[in-house]
Amino acid sequence: MSEPVLIARGLCKSFSQGPDRVDVLRGVDLTVNPGERVAVIGRSGSGKSTLLHLLAGLDDPDSGEVLVGGERMTGASPATRARLRNRLMGFVYQMHHLLPEFSALENAAMPLRLRGVDAATARERARAVLESVGLGERLAHRPMALSGGERQRVAVARALVGAPLVVLADEPTGNLDRDNAEQVFRLMCELSDAEGVGFVIVTHDEGLLDQVHRVVKLVDGRVQ
Ligand SMILES: Nc1ncnc2c1ncn2[C@@H]1O[C@H](COP(=O)(O)OP(=O)(O)O)[C@@H](O)[C@H]1O
Ligand SMILES: [Mg+2]
Repeated sequence: MSEPVLIARGLCKSFSQGPDRVDVLRGVDLTVNPGERVAVIGRSGSGKSTLLHLLAGLDDPDSGEVLVGGERMTGASPATRARLRNRLMGFVYQMHHLLPEFSALENAAMPLRLRGVDAATARERARAVLESVGLGERLAHRPMALSGGERQRVAVARALVGAPLVVLADEPTGNLDRDNAEQVFRLMCELSDAEGVGFVIVTHDEGLLDQVHRVVKLVDGRVQ
């Protein structure tokens, strides 16, 4: 069996707000295997986004560790974190975070350009991924000229363009209507199956949970 794409062990995280200390995560373990889709649920404020931040190496836990593709994210240098994120991970957010001045093709190609891949190769790969999300006819469109669902599909294409081991998605369908939410979610699942990409998906849309392999619920800072 191949090794997990993502391992989190004993993650603890507290925030101080004035005199108050909030223990958001109190020992969270999570393992994601290749091609596995894990949903993270829990009420608002239960620490879902905090968990994803730690998994992405955007913040360090107070204790515990995160390994991505067997490499240690926790405590790594900024350069190592950036490399692990760019090479091994993809990201989808609730807001699409596409760059408004760039076309769908250029947005989707961005992770490869940041990696130093030449423009022609990056565009070719981005075009293929945009076609796989049904946007082959929208390559030159800027985000403003796309619908909400289309923007989110460009964001999915951008997350997958670099052939990551694992994609972290924080409420990726949170801003979409029912039909678009289902379409984008189904698309992420199909691509995850086709490419063997692991997914950690924060969602509070219970209707989508039948499409994941495992559901993890955060309650009182722990996995229930
Ligand atoms: N940078 C921060 N500073 C202080 N408190 C924070 C910070 N980030 C998150 N929190 C607190 O941590 C708790 C969990 O937040 P979050 O992870 O965003 O929850 P969720 O995504 O599940 O809604 C909340 O009480 C929030 O106020
Ligand atoms: Mg959140």
